[in-house]
Amino acid sequence: MKWGCWGAKLGPQAMMRLMEQGIELGVTTFDHADIYGDYTTEEEFGSALHLNPGLRAQMQIVTKCGICMKSENRPEHIVKSYDVSKGHIITSVERSLKNLRTTYIDLLLIHRPSPLLAPDVVAEAFSALKRDGKVLDFGVSNFSPAQFSMLNSSFPLVTNQVEGSLLHLAPFTDGTFDQALQLKTKPMVWGPLGSGKLFTESKDPQVTRIQTAAKRILEKRGLDYGVDQLLLAWLLHHPAGILPVLGTTKTDRVEAAVKAFEIKLTDQEWFSLFEAARGHEVA
Ligand SMILES: NC(=O)c1ccc[n+]([C@@H]2O[C@H](COP(=O)([O-])OP(=O)(O)OC[C@H]3O[C@@H](n4cnc5c(N)ncnc54)[C@H](OP(=O)(O)O)[C@@H]3O)[C@@H](O)[C@H]2O)c1
Repeated sequence: MKWGCWGAKLGPQAMMRLMEQGIELGVTTFDHADIYGDYTTEEEFGSALHLNPGLRAQMQIVTKCGICMKSENRPEHIVKSYDVSKGHIITSVERSLKNLRTTYIDLLLIHRPSPLLAPDVVAEAFSALKRDGKVLDFGVSNFSPAQFSMLNSSFPLVTNQVEGSLLHLAPFTDGTFDQALQLKTKPMVWGPLGSGKLFTESKDPQVTRIQTAAKRILEKRGLDYGVDQLLLAWLLHHPAGILPVLGTTKTDRVEAAVKAFEIKLTDQEWFSLFEAARGHEVA
């Protein structure tokens, strides 16, 4: 989301290097959406991938569709809206395939739940894309557990990509992760580091409490890791098998993130961060 004009504005060479370095570190999945960069980032990624086409077989590409953003690149969108019709889903995937310069998408997500979503219609689109080998697996993003169940009963979904971090605790308590555990679908989590808000100098008391609690754990255990790594370890500790979707554009941060797997928190440490984020102890 932030590799193109919505963030670091990386050129093709820099994007290709980030892909190569990520893959070397074992971070092989790249998260896209048709809309990123005002509908431009998929195409830039595709041009970068074209510099080293052998990388495609070593990576998984996730992309999303369903949001119709008002944009100079989509003058036909007169109001921001959602489109989860069969025609739109298939057209959007075909455009993503062309932009990304690939013959298949590993995982397609419906980006947001539309109040007009008809599960059997989405299932028809998914079945056609799967039959034609254009998409291997399907999921959703930002769906409530009830919305997930509704579509999952028409077509098997493999994930719900939701916002989740110590700054956004909703999926821990609203049934999202309980459902993932029940169905054995690993949730993808966007904004795992609070979209960077957990590191900026902040007057927000919640951020201060989290930073203080994290530093206390690192000091007490004598752990030579950063707060960012501890906060990822906090997500990884959850039994649902959370898959954090990192938003960084820097290889050293990807490298640091991978090392978060080495940190094994105790449940008590997990709860001390949970308490710090909520501002009160559990009942
Ligand atoms: N499904 C959806 O609706 C949805 C919505 C939003 C995002 N997403 C996806 O999720 C991805 C991640 O979201 P996000 O960007 O919110 O995630 P994030 O990983 O929580 O935040 C990334 C931001 O944090 C900064 N950051 C990371 N580590 C840092 C550190 N140690 N110190 C200081 N700053 C640090 C990064 O800056 P640097 O670049 O400088 O490292 C970047 O600006 C997006 O790229 C997108 O693919 C999905």
